[in-house]
Amino acid sequence: MKHIILDTDPGVDDALAFVLTFNSPELKVEAVTTVAGNVNHEKGHRNAKKLLEFLGKTDVPICAGAVNPMLRKMSHAEEFHGKTGLGDTELPEPKMQTDPRSAVQMILEKADELGKNLTLVAVGPLTNIAAAILSDPALPEKVKELVIMGGAFNLTPYGHGNANAVAEFNIWHDPEAARIVFNSGIPMVCAGLDTTTYPEYRMSTEMFNEIKSKNTARSNLVVDLCGSLVKRFNGFSLHDPQAVAYVIDPTIFTTEKYKVDLEVHGEITRGMTVVERRSYRRNPNEENHEIIIKVDAERFLKLIMDRVVGE
Ligand code: BDR
Ligand code: CA
Repeated sequence: MKHIILDTDPGVDDALAFVLTFNSPELKVEAVTTVAGNVNHEKGHRNAKKLLEFLGKTDVPICAGAVNPMLRKMSHAEEFHGKTGLGDTELPEPKMQTDPRSAVQMILEKADELGKNLTLVAVGPLTNIAAAILSDPALPEKVKELVIMGGAFNLTPYGHGNANAVAEFNIWHDPEAARIVFNSGIPMVCAGLDTTTYPEYRMSTEMFNEIKSKNTARSNLVVDLCGSLVKRFNGFSLHDPQAVAYVIDPTIFTTEKYKVDLEVHGEITRGMTVVERRSYRRNPNEENHEIIIKVDAERFLKLIMDRVVGE
């Protein structure tokens, strides 16, 4: 059993990651922490509660996190995720209470309690994780690892940006936070756009239609979440579920280790994740960023069907 904290900005694909997480007996969710990103923090936090209530997981502590990026102005992706952040869903207004501990407090507390048995899973901007590292610089050595959805590493033909030509949204949204995290020494695994937008690893229109035909509470949720995006983008990129799937079963994935740094000043490259590939500069002792470069499509999509959609 893996103990995790899920740090998230729900978000349509975050919502799928929730369903995957809470239907996976391999994972024990210690807390959900929210961060501003796809939508403002208030909406994202409410969405996280809606999802926990939908899944019957109201016993999981939910903690509020960063309302803004560290230095930048808040920007959102409602154009993609819909006004509420959850596509066309109409989940009831949530009743559950927010835990009195902040996201940072919860992360630090659980790291002290669980140490190497704690995996941090961050599928939104890295503001909360950076703030936790600034509060406790020993955090990177305490936990097992940090698994993120983030980055565009140019390691596959699809490893280009979505927020600009070279940067992925989560990193672009708060590049200073990402820089702190990537340079902190914390062991990281990154599910970036290289594999989350790779055509074979996406939810195809055929897969969506199969989900739709099931007509269960969970399949209908998936349809309401991503139906319009499937039409718009000819399928749906399973960004955040890919990071969670890695935690559930890393054998589905092939990774390569590099040292990655962040571009924060670039006029047109803000948030670029820069991979050191020069052989004469590579030093295995510094390479603590494991990048997913390949996915066993069949096993990954089966996991999504079995766990997110179910029977
Ligand atoms: C990432 O940004 C958000 O839009 C998604 O939730 C995902 O975490 C993809 O770039
Ligand atoms: Ca997200």
